[in-house]
Amino acid sequence: MISLKFFLFVILLISQAYAEDSKHSLDYQKFVRFHWKGDLTSHSLTMKIFPQNDELVKEKYNTFLVLYTKPDDKSLSIAKTIKVEFPKEHYPVTQLDLKDLNPHTQYFYSFVFTQAGKLDSDVALKLIQDNKSSLSEFTFKTFSAELAPANFTFGAASCARSGSNSPVFNSLHDEKLDFFLQNGDLNYDDVRVNNLTKYYEAYYKVFSSPNQRKFYEGTPISYVWDDHDFGFNDADGNSPSKPASTQAYKDFVPHSPLKNIDVSNQKEDLIKLQELLNESPYGIFRSFVVGRCMFIILDLRSFLEVKPGEILGELQEKWLEYQLKTAGSNSHIKQIFIVGSIPWIFNGGLTFEENVWHEYLPTKQKISDLIQEHLYKNNKTIMMIGGDAHMIGFDDGRNNEYGGFPVVQAASLDQKPNCKGGPYSHGAKPGIEQYGVIEVEDNGGEKVCVKIDLKSGGKSAIKYDTCHPELYPSTKSFKCHPSWGDFSLMVAGSLSGIALLGGVIAYFWKKARKQNAAMTKSGVVNIKYSGLEEENSGKSFEMKENNDLEDDKVVSKKRKGSGTNKNSAFKND
Ligand SMILES: [Fe+2]
Repeated sequence: MISLKFFLFVILLISQAYAEDSKHSLDYQKFVRFHWKGDLTSHSLTMKIFPQNDELVKEKYNTFLVLYTKPDDKSLSIAKTIKVEFPKEHYPVTQLDLKDLNPHTQYFYSFVFTQAGKLDSDVALKLIQDNKSSLSEFTFKTFSAELAPANFTFGAASCARSGSNSPVFNSLHDEKLDFFLQNGDLNYDDVRVNNLTKYYEAYYKVFSSPNQRKFYEGTPISYVWDDHDFGFNDADGNSPSKPASTQAYKDFVPHSPLKNIDVSNQKEDLIKLQELLNESPYGIFRSFVVGRCMFIILDLRSFLEVKPGEILGELQEKWLEYQLKTAGSNSHIKQIFIVGSIPWIFNGGLTFEENVWHEYLPTKQKISDLIQEHLYKNNKTIMMIGGDAHMIGFDDGRNNEYGGFPVVQAASLDQKPNCKGGPYSHGAKPGIEQYGVIEVEDNGGEKVCVKIDLKSGGKSAIKYDTCHPELYPSTKSFKCHPSWGDFSLMVAGSLSGIALLGGVIAYFWKKARKQNAAMTKSGVVNIKYSGLEEENSGKSFEMKENNDLEDDKVVSKKRKGSGTNKNSAFKND
């Protein structure tokens, strides 16, 4: 009898222990599909969190984020325990704003999932301490106080194949960057339609790569799109995908306030400009400040060719002018970084592709004039950081006819190597597994030092220091020459394109021959234009031979209007 009581007692203890365990979980991978963070400031951070399964959305489990500062200390110094709530939507994603943080502080955080519906700091502390070895722990460091001297390091790169699991993301993760500028082509899903689902799927592909997931979960980002993640190859502001890509960006991407203007001085013209910017549904341009540096992020796709000859659009141009004016008149700001997705310099360099900025010379000239007027006259230094060209490159300003400032090109993460623009005073190297590490050293003097380290295939390839240019003289070879390995990749890519084109031509040639044979036999022209099939419910057109010319014109006009790929042979950046 005693032994039976003892047995029941043990069972009760085990079941209670099991029940207690099942109330809480720290299994991040099971519950969260992905999260990433951006809009980092000296006192705040924004996260976007995507749940893995319905249990969170249906609130079978509640999610808590526990924020602490001393992971190895027994007390952990818990700063916050925040409940995370997910909307009951088809693609649930939630935004979490961490506020009231301390400047220049390394924070750590973990997620706790609980059935109990509430979680106090003591329980969270015990859970995290007891499970330290298996915990998914993340970290970030807030910036130093705005407009005060600060040292920091950021990365820059662009162009990764959809779902790429390239080791370059592990290398980037190991750099332990304060933040990362993703300057376009986050993926190559090339969405051509106004379909939000396709964008969700494109983002999910990025998150599904273990290496990308680890990097983006570990490093605060500032991301701006280029053609392939805004729409498709060479997509411009007329892309049908524009509303969906804009909505997906707002829903999915942690970002600083878009189209921001400081209207605190109540100037009427600024208030009016902010109202106009707010009324416009498009555009992801914005600016932010780190230490005594200002970052101006341009959107070079949303307004491209909406009006012929425009790249920034009227409102973005006015906004940029305001940003440059603000930077120029603020005595605390010393260094300005202008960030865009496409290359700036084209001055007779060897280029395999057209340079997009070069097609908009009046805008380039206007920006150059504004920089002269507001920045140079106020002793500010400026640097531009671009992506898109699948190469690393650096010019100290000597080849930059429009502005004379240094230009960094930092791509490709893992897309096929290519060249654009130039020449570049310190060389250019097409390749893969490429990115830039940019270190800002600010000792509080008149000048902020910027140290550039452009890496390719795991090695430093181009270096520069704005305070010690003598350490890094210009290279003899200015032009953009691919290595043999990279050249082979480019040729292979082109050959497959040519083979595909050849196949298409052969198909239509064969088809035309068959039709000719039929015409000869019947004496009537029977032409079926694929471009008109959709509009005419698959009906073919029958016409007499002397009507051919007129209808050819109609077809030609239609095709011209629907196609945006101007130069498909090499245009795949
Ligand atoms: Fe690209």
